Amino acid sequence: MHFQWYPGHMTKARRQMQEDMKLIDLVIELVDARIPLSSRNPDIDELGRQKARLVLMNKADLANEGQTQRWAEFFREKGYFVVKLDARSKSGMKAISNVVMEACKEKIERDRKRGIKNRPVRAMVVGIPNVGKSTFINTYAGKACTKTGNKPGVTKGKQWIRLNKNVELLDTPGILWPKFEDQRVGLLLALIGSIKDEILNIDELSLELIQILKEHYPGVLAGRYGLQEGDAPEILKQVAENRNCVKKGSELDYSKAAALIIDEFRSGRLGKITLEFPPDPR
Ligand code: G4P
Repeated sequence: MHFQWYPGHMTKARRQMQEDMKLIDLVIELVDARIPLSSRNPDIDELGRQKARLVLMNKADLANEGQTQRWAEFFREKGYFVVKLDARSKSGMKAISNVVMEACKEKIERDRKRGIKNRPVRAMVVGIPNVGKSTFINTYAGKACTKTGNKPGVTKGKQWIRLNKNVELLDTPGILWPKFEDQRVGLLLALIGSIKDEILNIDELSLELIQILKEHYPGVLAGRYGLQEGDAPEILKQVAENRNCVKKGSELDYSKAAALIIDEFRSGRLGKITLEFPPDPR
């Protein structure tokens, strides 16, 4: 999960993805449903142009359902197929297979007109680190699938997972790089735990989280920690007091309180919380 992207990494990842794109019909892009824009890299739109596109809003179990719905509309309006998902659970996988076929309808029709029957749709999973790509591939592919080896015309070493007679998946996901340049994006990625905590100021991070919760989820902090109203630093102080976060000499330990709030958010104990909101439809 430690990802520091250097220009060299990005160039290599991009080149690899360009190569892989030639082999597929459909891009399955995972985003984190709690920060659906900040957890994607729009470069994929350029890399995957002319391909069918499916956005999986993953970790939907941790996100606010109403906001996930709004985000799904947002992506659909842009021409993507969208499915919300908990990649750890098998239950959503049948629906995905149906949407994959739907997304590739044109290609299947083109094949049919050319007299090509039963050529499986080929897909590739992409996303920034930690969005759940490996989890998804494991759950989706399950145990029953067969791996197909090198085939003529296919780059040497590529492994395809045959999901059923209609769909094949490239077994290694494409890794996109996050958009670190934007400070807000960095902050949101840090809050969901996609940037190493050691390189972050945990106190500041928690104040940002408190601010978002105060604004968009009134009552959540008060309900969980038994707080009075106050600004973000006051709330952090109250959490430290109420949860007995103290250093030696009974001084309040703000960093411990900060880590506690962030951890409770990440694990879903503060409830289903989305941190980024779609623009209002005009
Ligand atoms: P990646 O290949 O895109 O890098 O992600 P990966 O599958 O390794 O998943 C990253 C973490 O997210 C894993 O947690 C995984 O269990 C969790 N995860 C994946 N999909 C979902 C989902 O839909 N809902 C929830 N709640 N969690 C999901 P982990 O292995 O426990 O590691 P850690 O990152 O928590 O230490």
